[in-house]
Amino acid sequence: MTAQIIDGKALASQLRAALAHDVAKLVSKGIRPGLAVVLVGDDPASQVYVRSKAKQTVEVGMESFEYRLAADTTEADLLAVVDKLNTNQSVDGILVQLPLPAQIDADKVIRAIDPAKDVDGFHPINVGLTTIGAGGIVPCTPLGSLMLLRAVRSDMSGLNAVVVGRSNIVGKPVAQLLLKEGCTVTIAHSKSRDLPAIARAADILVAAVGRPEMIRGTWIKPGAIVIDVGINRVTDETGKSRLVGDVAFAEAIEVAQAITPVPGGVGPMTIACLLKNTVEAARVRRGGF
Ligand code: GUN
Repeated sequence: MTAQIIDGKALASQLRAALAHDVAKLVSKGIRPGLAVVLVGDDPASQVYVRSKAKQTVEVGMESFEYRLAADTTEADLLAVVDKLNTNQSVDGILVQLPLPAQIDADKVIRAIDPAKDVDGFHPINVGLTTIGAGGIVPCTPLGSLMLLRAVRSDMSGLNAVVVGRSNIVGKPVAQLLLKEGCTVTIAHSKSRDLPAIARAADILVAAVGRPEMIRGTWIKPGAIVIDVGINRVTDETGKSRLVGDVAFAEAIEVAQAITPVPGGVGPMTIACLLKNTVEAARVRRGGF
């Protein structure tokens, strides 16, 4: 069996088209949603993401505010920028690109963002609200992963889901979302005993470990749905660099029922969900349509 490839690029494009429609409606009522992205330092990967976010924000009709701060910016200076954005009425969403330089406490910065503008869904208020199922802003990568799953399986109730990775940004929130879908959820991580056996029990396998091609084809239950969150840059024997996921794609495709590719899977959905969270934040905060 060769797996169905879940096309994140196409799904993200559909989502952006729907968002452009929503934004146009808001604009006709005098509300133009705005997203502020703050980048500290000059990490090349972060620069690529930030550029891409700004471009897509404008493409769906929203306003983009970009703040590029020097690598030696102090925590106090960054907190002052966040404070200004919290009170800026044209700004509906605030994203501070992670990772931050060592002199800045990322948790402190996340907690300083107005929860109503926290379109990353990282503030403890949003984490708490989503955990108890009382609303709240859902983090973009987990939300994008769920939408990709729903595209191939609308009813996940009763399925065994295994999330490999326990980060606050992906692993933990993905597990919460799958629990809400009615899955029996296992969170596996670097300390788990016999990871391949745990993975093989999964009807839904979400890989979010950040280790290139760690999850082999033999770890996958025949017919499973595989969501690969990893984006790892590797250099092959010829010196050529390419992006691979956390899953050995060529092996997995022979076993799984459906799988997301890297690139073109979760990545495009993450940015589309950021735009979605911003439109929703604008609607909630400004009472539009
Ligand atoms: N760096 C890598 N992914 C993310 C993300 O989803 N949000 C933020 N703020 N920084 C990131």
